[in-house]
Amino acid sequence: MIETYLGRGGDSGSFPMAMFLLWALTFASAFYWRPSWRPNYARVRVGILKLVPLPRANFDLKEFGGVGDGMTDNTEAFEAAVAAIREERGMGQLERWQRGNNGTIDGQGQVWWTRFKQRALNNTRGPLVQFMWSRDIVISNITLRNSPFWNLHPYDCKNVTVSNVTILAPVTAAPNTDGIDPDSCEDMLIENCYIAVGDDGIAIKSGWDQYGIRYGRPSSNIVIRNLTLRSTVSAGISIGSEMSGGVENVTVENIHVWDSRRAIRIKTAPGRGGYIRNITYNNVTIDNTMHGIVLVTDYNQHPDEEYDRAAIPNVENLSFTGIYGKDVRIPVQILGSEDIPIRGVSFRNVTMKLHKKKDNVFQCAYVEGRVFGSIFPAPCKNLDRYDDNGQLVMKSTSHNVSLIDYAL
Ligand SMILES: *[C@@H]1O[C@H](CO)[C@@H](O)[C@H](O)[C@H]1NC(C)=O
Ligand SMILES: *[C@@H]1O[C@H](CO)[C@@H](O)[C@H](O)[C@H]1NC(C)=O
Ligand SMILES: *[C@@H]1O[C@H](CO)[C@@H](O)[C@H](O)[C@H]1NC(C)=O
Ligand SMILES: *[C@@H]1O[C@H](CO)[C@@H](O)[C@H](O)[C@H]1NC(C)=O
Ligand SMILES: *[C@@H]1O[C@H](CO)[C@@H](O)[C@H](O)[C@H]1NC(C)=O
Ligand SMILES: *[C@@H]1O[C@H](CO)[C@@H](O)[C@H](O)[C@H]1NC(C)=O
Ligand SMILES: *[C@@H]1O[C@H](CO)[C@@H](O)[C@H](O)[C@H]1NC(C)=O
Ligand SMILES: *[C@@H]1O[C@H](CO)[C@@H](O)[C@H](O)[C@H]1NC(C)=O
Ligand SMILES: *[C@@H]1O[C@H](CO)[C@@H](O)[C@H](O)[C@H]1NC(C)=O
Ligand SMILES: *[C@@H]1O[C@H](CO)[C@@H](O)[C@H](O)[C@H]1NC(C)=O
Ligand SMILES: *[C@@H]1O[C@H](CO)[C@@H](O)[C@H](O)[C@H]1NC(C)=O
Ligand SMILES: *[C@@H]1O[C@H](CO)[C@@H](O)[C@H](O)[C@H]1NC(C)=O
Repeated sequence: MIETYLGRGGDSGSFPMAMFLLWALTFASAFYWRPSWRPNYARVRVGILKLVPLPRANFDLKEFGGVGDGMTDNTEAFEAAVAAIREERGMGQLERWQRGNNGTIDGQGQVWWTRFKQRALNNTRGPLVQFMWSRDIVISNITLRNSPFWNLHPYDCKNVTVSNVTILAPVTAAPNTDGIDPDSCEDMLIENCYIAVGDDGIAIKSGWDQYGIRYGRPSSNIVIRNLTLRSTVSAGISIGSEMSGGVENVTVENIHVWDSRRAIRIKTAPGRGGYIRNITYNNVTIDNTMHGIVLVTDYNQHPDEEYDRAAIPNVENLSFTGIYGKDVRIPVQILGSEDIPIRGVSFRNVTMKLHKKKDNVFQCAYVEGRVFGSIFPAPCKNLDRYDDNGQLVMKSTSHNVSLIDYAL
């Protein structure tokens, strides 16, 4: 929810070459798998972090002195493993991460959440798993839990697949434990995952204000499908608020969000620059949330006072098809602004049953777009209405009305 990490874009990078960094547990000292002396231990390859192609198939952390008892500090083992891989490959690439048990990396984040809430930390907390400047990565068949900060953070990576991954953290009181944060990444697939965490389930990002603009790397060509998400404090799937490098060509489909604050959220602000465009949401089921779809353009958290107030993000071409909700309090809230009008929004086959009959259900400001066929609740008058066959039924009466609440 609160963005603090890597906002300074590439400026914080000190790694000389393309390599990935497994940040796991440098702090939490907890690399967890079942110790090998357990009688029913089997050398099952379950958790796999993979970069290809490689001459050698496996690097087992235990060969480097790693101990998976949930207690031992494995920092040196991680460093030794990466050094060995770098020697063998000429760069720091790890292919398979072999572990027993059912492949869990437990960040034991409680101590970090507590210190964060006490304001007792001087630095940003570490994510559980972080890849930087890498490509051709497959992360599958693994459970990540209790990250001190974000769980999985691919940063400036290309061709990343995340499949059949379970990500868990307490859904309240585990600050910033986002599930997956694709950050300035290209060609990414996230599928078949279960995510229930203390912040956004997924949050697509690309740098913060002037730092993100300078680094200038968008998140693009991302497909997110077949996920179940729960986010009690934030949203199932977010874009932003740090999106200064741009976010483009994202498809989100076959998604189920339950018992959450919000299902779909896009957040930006003046000063971000960049763009959010060509984003498609298809077949999203929403079950018991405060908000269904929320777009805001006043998310005014800035890294410092040096941001460019004239850097206005462009938000354009967002389509929502097959959005089915029940027990939703405020189904749609699209709040563009005079500075950041939202253009090219479309809705098809949207039905969100309300938690209770009430007003304020489809709120719009500074938005231009179209609705097709029947939409429930009745759409705001900012949008042009078409029938199922694409024939114009009624032109919008205003694009700009600010914060009028539309009743049923
Ligand atoms: C597998 O991992 C999950 C999540 O960490 C845990 O709840 C479960 O008990 C584990 N199962 C086994 C057989 O260890
Ligand atoms: C944070 O910085 C202050 C001042 O430099 C220092 O006294 C304190 O020990 C630091 N706290 C931690 C947790 O490093
Ligand atoms: C993407 O990565 C996968 C898995 O590492 C690999 O099999 C595939 O060839 C890569 N695709 C491209 C276009 O490089
Ligand atoms: C998903 O991963 C779990 C281990 O976390 C494994 O037991 C299961 O077979 C995997 N399922 C698929 C379809 O790959
Ligand atoms: C995930 O686990 C399933 C079932 O064990 C296996 O078939 C599949 O190959 C695994 N995925 C990867 C990428 O290893
Ligand atoms: C969707 O993902 C779940 C795991 O979360 C998996 O069991 C199921 O088979 C997937 N469905 C499809 C159609 O791939
Ligand atoms: C929009 O993105 C989709 C993939 O999500 C892509 O197939 C399509 O070509 C893009 N359209 C434009 C106009 O960029
Ligand atoms: C988005 O998709 C379109 C159409 O496939 C492509 O032309 C464009 O380059 C893509 N944008 C990015 C940033 O990859
Ligand atoms: C829509 O998504 C749900 C999962 O949320 C899935 O079960 C269903 O098969 C999807 N429908 C279609 C038409 O793909
Ligand atoms: C948005 O969609 C419209 C209509 O399909 C298209 O003309 C325009 O080029 C798109 N804009 C971007 C930035 O893709
Ligand atoms: C609506 O707002 C846009 C963007 O601020 C502006 O260009 C346009 O003139 C306004 N239209 C009306 C009718 O006020
Ligand atoms: C809405 O869904 C129905 C049934 O799936 C389909 O027949 C219809 O064409 C859809 N309408 C639009 C506007 O996509």
